[in-house]
Amino acid sequence: MKMRQGKASFALSLSLGLAVTSTANAAALVSSPGQVAAIPAWDLESSAKINDANNLAALSKTGVDTSQWNKVNVSKCTLMGCLLEAGVYNDTQLFYSDNLANVDAEQFSVPWIYRKEFELNPGSGKHFLLQTHGITSRADIYLNGKQVADKSTQAGSYAGYTYDITDLAASSNALAIRVYPTSYYYDFALGWVDWNPWPADNGTGVWRDVEIKQTGPVALGPLRVVTQIGTPLGSKPADVTLRAKAQNLEKTAVTITASGSVVAESGGEPLVWSKKVTIPPLSTIDIDLTNTVQKPAIWWPAFWGAQPLYKANLTVSTSEGALSDFAGATFGFRTVTSKVNSNNDTVFSVNGQPIQILGGGYAPDMFLRFDKAKWEMEVKYTLDLGFNTIRLEGKNEHPELYEIADRLGLLLMVGWECCDKWEAWSYNQDLAVPTPVWNDADYVIANASMAHEALMLQTHPSVFVYLIGSDYWPDTKATPIYINALKAADWQVPILASASRRGYPKELGPSGLKMEGPYDWVPPNYWYDIEPSRSRLGAAFGFGSEQSSGGGTPALSSLKKFLSQSDLDDLWKNPDKDLFHMSRETSQFHQRSIENKGIWKRWGAPSSLEDYLTKVQITDYEGSRAMFEGFSAMWNAKRPATGVIYWMLTGAFPSLHWNIWDYYMHPAGAYFGAKMGSRLEHVAYDYVKKDVYLINHSLDVEGPRSISLQVIDTSGKVTYNNTVSTTTKANTSKSIASLTSALNSIKDVVFLRLILSDDKGKVLSRNVYWIAKSIDTLDWNNSDWFYTPLSKYADYTALNKLATANVSVSVGKNSVDQTTSVTLENLSSGPAFFVSLNLVDSKGEDVVPLTWSDNYLTLFPKEKVTVAFQNLGNTEPAAIQVEGKNVAKATVQLA
Ligand SMILES: *[C@@H]1O[C@H](CO)[C@@H](O)[C@H](O)[C@H]1NC(C)=O
Ligand SMILES: *[C@@H]1O[C@H](CO)[C@@H](O)[C@H](O)[C@H]1NC(C)=O
Ligand SMILES: *[C@@H]1O[C@H](CO)[C@@H](O)[C@H](O)[C@H]1NC(C)=O
Ligand SMILES: *[C@@H]1O[C@H](CO)[C@@H](O)[C@H](O)[C@H]1NC(C)=O
Ligand SMILES: *[C@@H]1O[C@H](CO)[C@@H](O)[C@H](O)[C@H]1NC(C)=O
Ligand SMILES: *[C@@H]1O[C@H](CO)[C@@H](O)[C@H](O)[C@H]1NC(C)=O
Ligand SMILES: *[C@@H]1O[C@H](CO)[C@@H](O)[C@H](O)[C@H]1NC(C)=O
Ligand SMILES: *[C@@H]1O[C@H](CO)[C@@H](O)[C@H](O)[C@H]1NC(C)=O
Ligand SMILES: *[C@@H]1O[C@H](CO)[C@@H](O)[C@H](O)[C@H]1NC(C)=O
Repeated sequence: MKMRQGKASFALSLSLGLAVTSTANAAALVSSPGQVAAIPAWDLESSAKINDANNLAALSKTGVDTSQWNKVNVSKCTLMGCLLEAGVYNDTQLFYSDNLANVDAEQFSVPWIYRKEFELNPGSGKHFLLQTHGITSRADIYLNGKQVADKSTQAGSYAGYTYDITDLAASSNALAIRVYPTSYYYDFALGWVDWNPWPADNGTGVWRDVEIKQTGPVALGPLRVVTQIGTPLGSKPADVTLRAKAQNLEKTAVTITASGSVVAESGGEPLVWSKKVTIPPLSTIDIDLTNTVQKPAIWWPAFWGAQPLYKANLTVSTSEGALSDFAGATFGFRTVTSKVNSNNDTVFSVNGQPIQILGGGYAPDMFLRFDKAKWEMEVKYTLDLGFNTIRLEGKNEHPELYEIADRLGLLLMVGWECCDKWEAWSYNQDLAVPTPVWNDADYVIANASMAHEALMLQTHPSVFVYLIGSDYWPDTKATPIYINALKAADWQVPILASASRRGYPKELGPSGLKMEGPYDWVPPNYWYDIEPSRSRLGAAFGFGSEQSSGGGTPALSSLKKFLSQSDLDDLWKNPDKDLFHMSRETSQFHQRSIENKGIWKRWGAPSSLEDYLTKVQITDYEGSRAMFEGFSAMWNAKRPATGVIYWMLTGAFPSLHWNIWDYYMHPAGAYFGAKMGSRLEHVAYDYVKKDVYLINHSLDVEGPRSISLQVIDTSGKVTYNNTVSTTTKANTSKSIASLTSALNSIKDVVFLRLILSDDKGKVLSRNVYWIAKSIDTLDWNNSDWFYTPLSKYADYTALNKLATANVSVSVGKNSVDQTTSVTLENLSSGPAFFVSLNLVDSKGEDVVPLTWSDNYLTLFPKEKVTVAFQNLGNTEPAAIQVEGKNVAKATVQLA
């Protein structure tokens, strides 16, 4: 049977056509009860290029010639993700300049077909299930010529279903899935709002695995693990309940033995126990097995303790002792609660300890290509920053994401996304024009989506909340559907109505989170400018669910990878120009005007690209440091700052804003500012009150500390020098000094250096500020939802005239912790301002991923500072590039 027409238009189809398509001799995809396997690879093609594309029954028979189709050797990919994988597109080229805008979107306005043949060993007593975890936007599924599901059922990116395919299964099978075009306004998909340009396919396709499972007479659903931990935690036993749906697939009642096992990953005696259960014909019950762990090891977020994990397994066997199915999971013992405090702000507690949430908003890859190794690096960066949390707004990804977070001790704030179909409520003021409110079928999709995600997340200790809305709370019909689906999955952590305080459903009450900006540049005093009402927008009080001063500009080495020479010129020559590598074209974040205005006014017009980028990095650093320091400092304030999520952590594509590190994993100003601002034990300056705060995010005991406070002018002359001794209190932020008099007679600009040391003289935190004669003045009354304008700008232009400083650099290997130390010494009598270190390979390319203990340093006259880097990748470093605002560029070869 010839199923397709010729296709001259796809450049790479000929060579791809040579790929092997026959699986005739391949081994069975699954061959024992309980085994699950994803369809490992796909052939895919547009319905416009296939003869008789409407005949999915015929296309899902074995032997169809797909030699001319696109081939991908991955189990999941969106259409664009697949075409990238197949070599039809190349992301280096797509991301360059505005090439992405030229991808033909028309090709995705028709259905596409994913197809694969695979083997099974069907036989008596064997059952086969086909499991989906969401297909975008909708799909018809056919196996061996018969329909398994149609697009009215298999609808929505997160709606996973299990289909019994026992009657259809053969030794040679062909599966065909027709996926339908996606609109973010009409479909439950993974939309991008204003984050970045939209992918041409709107994310259509088999973005999550499609799996085949073999079972005996009884099949289990996902395992839920319910823990009841006695207090004090860790010293009292914990009850553990293993639960899963058990479906009798036979037409007669079946009696099975259900066995539970729980064992610490670190080893030790497993708990194993069982009971007999009878399940009526063709029906589903909940299996429930409870036992007690005598000395549960408690899971903590990274900075507060270890992450012990346990393995749980629930198996069902027939009365003859044959295994029928099993469901396993890794879990941890921890509790999470939340409460709305007397200020109506939410405070989360982990294991009974109130925790200040510090984190960033996650963006997956624009084409949803999930890379486990990259995610693991992202978690390492996040923890290196001192953050404890990542927020996932409607980008729930895959189980591996949660497994890695569990192991590394990162908290995850999970929930639905804003601004499209997911929040199509009549009272949503911010919806894009065409979005219709939900109809009856939509509530069914929402129900299935919540049920599926709840089961995927339930066992993961890293997950600490589900936000069933982002910008808007769900309506009166959706709210109980979401809550019931979570409860049915034995959800044990908080459920919040939204990430904002625009309204709430009666079942959940106020969310206690605020979403009032800013999203674009504001000066560093913004966060501290809380009085008189202690309720100013994004300032440092309460819980800011998404906010920042917009920064995250990549360094030049990264910019050159995705910007043409004329794009680079635009950055500093056309400060108000619309730029492709920002938010989408319809957004107010499509240019850098607001940050640029701040730079021009505060620092003077740039004289070159390099000069512009230095001023940008200073601005990004100052911006992210101030937000995290402001929130950290206000943990014990009259209206405490209970948490803040930086908008955003990462970009879905190489972006000029809203990322703490760039698409290439290169950390720059925003990264090191955020890292400085989030240090576990830290000293910070309040730009408004001119106080110095001592911050300690740990739960440890108290200890003596000394803080050196020194101010110099632009020539390096010391104008203030003082030392304060104090005792830090764990888990506390307090004001320990006022610098009002020290800073009352600034000529133009001064540098303030704060050094925190312990009683043995060990430096715990070192932090340098540049402070102008007068601070920026915010025009609060003219605030917009995305920023607060200024009525007066601080003047930093004196720093353009700093005398050149001479900095020496020496490198030493630290054999103990595999880091390399780098010692900088300012040999001059004036300050060396904003000195950056960049590790490069022998070709001068950035070495990434890596961490630096500190970077973008300002050294006082004659000061010597040692920092260290750790290379997290496999690239051999060759040299360090050094440069500063008043320090000439130099390259130091590594020995
Ligand atoms: C497909 O990928 C798998 C696993 O990554 C690999 O073992 C296999 O050789 C690949 N097949 C082809 C045809 O490239
Ligand atoms: C993509 O294009 C870049 C630049 O043209 C090239 O260096 C790279 O090898 C290409 N990638 C693939 C996978 O072909
Ligand atoms: C993507 O979604 C937008 C908004 O709904 C729509 O205008 C566009 O046609 C969609 N693209 C495709 C290929 O369906
Ligand atoms: C769960 O039990 C099944 C059946 O005994 C076994 O094959 C599987 O490896 C177990 N899983 C874990 C995580 O122990
Ligand atoms: C908290 O919210 C309630 C109503 O939801 C309101 O009555 C009360 O005044 C608020 N409290 C504060 C401190 O804003
Ligand atoms: C949601 O789904 C569950 C499980 O399938 C079902 O029991 C419940 O009735 C559904 N709720 C609504 C309102 O349809
Ligand atoms: C927090 O303060 C306590 C008491 O001084 C100290 O023991 C602990 O090391 C500090 N924690 C961190 C992480 O610096
Ligand atoms: C600053 O004060 C410390 C003592 O608190 C002293 O050791 C140091 O020499 C002083 N430095 C300057 C430059 O005056
Ligand atoms: C940490 O600080 C919070 C807020 O002040 C307080 O409620 C909590 O009891 C403290 N925890 C410890 C262990 O001191």
